[in-house]
Amino acid sequence: MKIVTVVGARPQFIKAAVVSRELRKEFEEILVHTGQHYDYNMSEVFFEELDIPKPDYNLGISGGTHGKMTGEMLIEIEKVLLKESPDAVLLYGDTNSTLAGALAAVKLHIPVIHVEAGNRLGTKNNPEEVNRILTDHASSLHLCCTDSAKEYLSKEGITDTAYVVGDPMYDAFKFYSNKVKHEATETLISLCGEKMEIPEKFYYMTCHREENAGKDETLIEILSAMESLDSKTIYPVHPRNTGRVKRIIEEKGYKNIIACKPVGYLMSVYLVNHAEKIVTDSGGLQREAFFAEKQCITVFDYVVWPETMIDDRNQLSKPCREEILNKLEKKQTVHENHAFGDGNSCKKIVKHIINILKNEEKRYERKIAQ
Ligand code: UD1
Ligand code: UDP
Repeated sequence: MKIVTVVGARPQFIKAAVVSRELRKEFEEILVHTGQHYDYNMSEVFFEELDIPKPDYNLGISGGTHGKMTGEMLIEIEKVLLKESPDAVLLYGDTNSTLAGALAAVKLHIPVIHVEAGNRLGTKNNPEEVNRILTDHASSLHLCCTDSAKEYLSKEGITDTAYVVGDPMYDAFKFYSNKVKHEATETLISLCGEKMEIPEKFYYMTCHREENAGKDETLIEILSAMESLDSKTIYPVHPRNTGRVKRIIEEKGYKNIIACKPVGYLMSVYLVNHAEKIVTDSGGLQREAFFAEKQCITVFDYVVWPETMIDDRNQLSKPCREEILNKLEKKQTVHENHAFGDGNSCKKIVKHIINILKNEEKRYERKIAQ
């Protein structure tokens, strides 16, 4: 049986790395890269480091408005699906590549399997929320990372196709944390291309969302909080924000912030595991902070991963210098927690796919036809 998997953005490459390995033991997988992320250090480095199979198709679609990007992807993914005629389409998360894959497949009556189904913020002003909701409602199998995600789906009437399998990001984090060697992670590359050393003590920050990094006012609040800390901050900068970050750091004369090019996943795992604390607006990084039992401040208005908030291990903050600093000061107790599974979610994901495509084929077809 054949499955087409659609990926396009950094967090999806990480999930595909661990899921593909299991999936290919049972199914033929055709990997489609939409091209949404395309710089070497936003895309290829993940395929190299994580040994992800080379994509069978690279659609080369990126940038522009959400509608243009998603629409172009939809047209090209449909062509691939018509040619490959898969038994199902596998999608991860909430990017424009996810939504395009879901629309292309559901219109051709090809079952959609959604990994990381069910997360909700509660606002349609967030582009990822729209992608999640629409993808979930086009999907035939909903594989949730957490109990809360399954509960959200249930409130929307999606019940008997939803299963909690744990988080493949946890599988990846566990697997690659054991593989990171210090030699592989020695230097960072500055935004101007020079090599930079990793200090012994540091904070790890990522900040790429429009709401935070898209305006000087909010980014200055966040950077000035980090500038005033007792150790330096390592900040790998998403390419969309390079110009603004460079200019602000120069204008303000910040000396405590190591702004660098995006790093590969192994380096990112190293930084998570060795950071004092983490400040981020990334859905992935706030979970990784939790996996590594590091205190995290998420600069965002909404809770995306409620399970990480236990005991204030992950606290929301507005992009406000004082609030970030106050929350960073809070002391924490960390208890072991298994909200994201046991590191074997990939096996569970594949088991559910086998079950629904191979063992319960007839029942499944009936469901799809309804
Ligand atoms: C996307 C995801 C978001 C995820 C983020 C980072 C959607 C709606 N959002 O947002 O959930 O957190 O990826 O993983 O899909 N660019 C480059 N080089 C690249 C990639 C992007 O220069 O390799 C620039 C382009 O100018 C592009 C801009 O960054 O227009 C934004 O990229 P895009 O993929 O549209 O959105 P992200 O902000 O990356
Ligand atoms: N990451 C990385 N290099 C970086 C920044 C982040 O490898 O320079 C990893 C990080 O460890 C996490 C994932 O990328 O696993 C998160 O992706 P991102 O923040 O782009 O997307 P989100 O999770 O917010 O959708």
